[in-house]
Amino acid sequence: MIKRYTYGSPFQTEAVIEQIQAIKEKPSYFKVNKEEDSYTLVYKMDKNDGLFGLGENIRGINKRGYIYKSNCSDDPSHDEGKSSLYGAHNFLIVKGSHTFGIFIDMPSSVTFDCGYTQKDQLVITVSSIDFDLYIIEEESFNETIKRFRKLIGRSYIPPKWAFGYQQSRWGYRNEEDVQKVVDGYRNNHIPLDAVYMDIDFMERFKNFTVDSAAFKDFKQVVSDLKDKGIRLVPIVDAGVKIEEGYDVYEEGVAHNYFCKDEQGEDFVAAVWPGKVHFPDFLNKEAREWFGKKYKVLLDQGIEGFWNDMNEPAIFYTPEGLQEAFQKLDHIRQCDNIGIYEFFGIKDIMNGISNSASDYERFYHQVGDQRIRHDKVHNLFGYNMTRAAGEAFDVLEPNKRILLFSRASYIGMHRYGGIWTGDNTSWWSHLLMNIKMMPSLNMCGILYTGADIGGFGGNSTEDLVLRWLQFGCFTPLMRNHSALGTREQEAYQFQDIGSFRNIIGIRYGMIPYLYSEYMKAALRDEMYFKTLMMAYPEDAFAENVEDQLMVGESIMIAPVYEQNARGRYVYLPEDMLMVKLRSLTDREYKIMDKGHHYVDIALEEMVFFIKPNHVVPLSKGAEYVDGLDEMDLELCGYVKDKATYELYQDDGFSKYYDSPNNWSTLQVIKEDNQIQSISSKDALKISLNIY
Ligand code: GLC
Repeated sequence: MIKRYTYGSPFQTEAVIEQIQAIKEKPSYFKVNKEEDSYTLVYKMDKNDGLFGLGENIRGINKRGYIYKSNCSDDPSHDEGKSSLYGAHNFLIVKGSHTFGIFIDMPSSVTFDCGYTQKDQLVITVSSIDFDLYIIEEESFNETIKRFRKLIGRSYIPPKWAFGYQQSRWGYRNEEDVQKVVDGYRNNHIPLDAVYMDIDFMERFKNFTVDSAAFKDFKQVVSDLKDKGIRLVPIVDAGVKIEEGYDVYEEGVAHNYFCKDEQGEDFVAAVWPGKVHFPDFLNKEAREWFGKKYKVLLDQGIEGFWNDMNEPAIFYTPEGLQEAFQKLDHIRQCDNIGIYEFFGIKDIMNGISNSASDYERFYHQVGDQRIRHDKVHNLFGYNMTRAAGEAFDVLEPNKRILLFSRASYIGMHRYGGIWTGDNTSWWSHLLMNIKMMPSLNMCGILYTGADIGGFGGNSTEDLVLRWLQFGCFTPLMRNHSALGTREQEAYQFQDIGSFRNIIGIRYGMIPYLYSEYMKAALRDEMYFKTLMMAYPEDAFAENVEDQLMVGESIMIAPVYEQNARGRYVYLPEDMLMVKLRSLTDREYKIMDKGHHYVDIALEEMVFFIKPNHVVPLSKGAEYVDGLDEMDLELCGYVKDKATYELYQDDGFSKYYDSPNNWSTLQVIKEDNQIQSISSKDALKISLNIY
């Protein structure tokens, strides 16, 4: 059951797709306090209550004990001390003496004090008096998630090639750089489906342009690569360069499509291209206009995009810079700079970028309402991605286009996925990646993954390998790194064979991973579950935060520590351990319920199959379109009978709902005889059953 409580007159974020009638009574569970321009909602927690959700955020899967803020923030060096990341996802489930979900639909900042100030209190501070509050109560924790997912609508579905391995790096400048990456992979027979083009491919960082000196015949390059099974995926940034003669800039100015400053002039900020204007993505006409611009690249054969810098990130504004200089001038007058002034200098310089005061300097036009940006800050990246998604529906009505964003709000999950922004080549960020996945799925964000190997900082061979072992299971499997850092493409390291094998395993698993993704998307289910979600009766499972369920058959326990030769694993029931050194070099072991130390060498990958479950595997390929998915192996642990629903489609059209996409595969074990039954005759199936 969902109850909606409306306070004031909320901005219509379009996060939810169902119309729920607002009710007047006081909400259950919370003590609601109105302040002058905010509300606090206070819930008294029991000792053992857990808090789960909040999508893209730091720390544990159980959020209890810390304070989090929904405020889309560009913060590449985030650590445990931070409260916000790139997305704002205000869905949280309280699990304990009462179990219920809460969604605050409000596009500015919301703070979730999850027992940080007072350990027995959940205090939610909504920085507005206009918002919608939804309280969801269902039979169980899992049903609560499912009901919420239904409320917010079906998650985005990418083309199938986007389940292949993808290589990115900020710094591929031209055709030769791209070719070097392609050769690095193809010559070493390491599978690859996409190469990303970061800002350097553009002409002076102008969106929807291609530097013609760097790419002589861009369309030809795109087409030649596609023949090799490789897509080029360009970046699109939120800021539009101010430059006379640049069509996007000139059209935006002419039609008032850009955000305005207080005086009604086009607002100026600086990002990669220098000074830019921001398209007013909250304005329908501006959104439609910007969305159509993607056509320039679609026409060159491009089939995927990543939307970046859309919190929006601001390096500086002329006003902000001026204010900083004035403060510095003031300090400069001091003869003997005191300690507070000295630290003041540092703070002034650090505070220039992404400053709260800059977010108060510009406005959106929504219908006849002029709204200051900070009041709707968390909707900017969402609506940039929506601009693209809605345009693709018109420009390519029956073709899936890959699309993901850096900033997001719930609702955006219908238009695209996200990558988890700028991380660092730290082992702690690998663990954070693992923990973040179920919380993101709870908020409808299924197509997601982190910068494998880490974006900032220098990665190491073992970190990239371990991260790939986990990345094999994330729908978006992309290695990305920053300009100036150590190169971390799979072929840059000594043990190329292990990279080939691990990435090869991903391709073997695509029949399973794709089926499980489609089940999650089409049925509002979780692709990544916590153990607690899969084993609600198991008291120990609730505490396990570094193992996940992937789809219906598999549990994973990734290694995330340097020099570890294995790890402790908790099995909530007896399972089949599959240890792979390559797709064909495997070991199997049936293991009992309980705690085990499992050896997992750097070049090995391990997962566990539940009893009476199977996993369909292909023989692998160097790119997704090259997979022969009519020739499958069912690998599994069958005591008497396992049934698997396999999803297969053409991988690019939108006929997801056709019953023809499904087949049922059964494995029956009787008197030590194993037989399989398939509902699709054309499938060639071999068995590998324990
Ligand atoms: C931002 C993005 C990063 C990209 C860089 C340059 O930091 O998050 O992925 O490489 O900009 O475009």
